[in-house]
Amino acid sequence: MTTVAVVYHSGYGHTGAQAQAVARGVAKVEGVTVHLLNAEEAQQQWELLKAADAIVFGSPTYMGSASAQFKAFMDASSKAWYTRDWKDKIAAGFTTSASQSGDKLNTLVQLAVFAAQHGMIWVGQDLLPGNNNSKGSVNDLNRLGSFLGAMAQANADEGADVAPIQSDLLTAEHLGERVATITKKMYG
Ligand SMILES: Cc1cc2nc3c(=O)[nH]c(=O)nc-3n(C[C@H](O)[C@H](O)[C@H](O)COP(=O)(O)O)c2cc1C
Repeated sequence: MTTVAVVYHSGYGHTGAQAQAVARGVAKVEGVTVHLLNAEEAQQQWELLKAADAIVFGSPTYMGSASAQFKAFMDASSKAWYTRDWKDKIAAGFTTSASQSGDKLNTLVQLAVFAAQHGMIWVGQDLLPGNNNSKGSVNDLNRLGSFLGAMAQANADEGADVAPIQSDLLTAEHLGERVATITKKMYG
């Protein structure tokens, strides 16, 4: 059985909605089991993470980088780093912020460096960028044009019931499906 863990933090639910979309994408692939854990729970689940074939990391972008709560999980993983528990697992990442840019790329870079420190194999987004020509719209997949991971944007005055918009959630779902497909090929 191929297993994919999704570890995320979300202060106000937006990145949580994105994490659920990633998990939905993983679950679309037959024979792949998904474990959705928030960053606090994950710090009690090191054996589960050790047994997973892939871990997808997700954090809101706070002050241009991962949230303190997600960073706490990163730092707590140093024991797994030392014993190389995650070496050769598949990794990927996602982030939500309020601004169109909001410096989200820095958060994804941070997650990719984190995965590299663990000896993991980073999987990026394969979708072409959307909403970058006169016929484009915010409803395009990958409307924020990210290759390193899945980005989503949530208006600061809207709750997680409506933000991020559907195209961002489908973009996250696509990344989850891609991670599961690749992980199954490698480890299934
Ligand atoms: C402490 C803090 C810092 C933030 N910094 C940024 C930022 O650097 N860029 C940005 O676009 N939005 C920023 N925001 C807005 C959040 O990224 C946005 O509200 C996001 O949807 C929150 O995700 P969450 O609901 O998963 O916590 C910040 C919000 C907070 C609370």
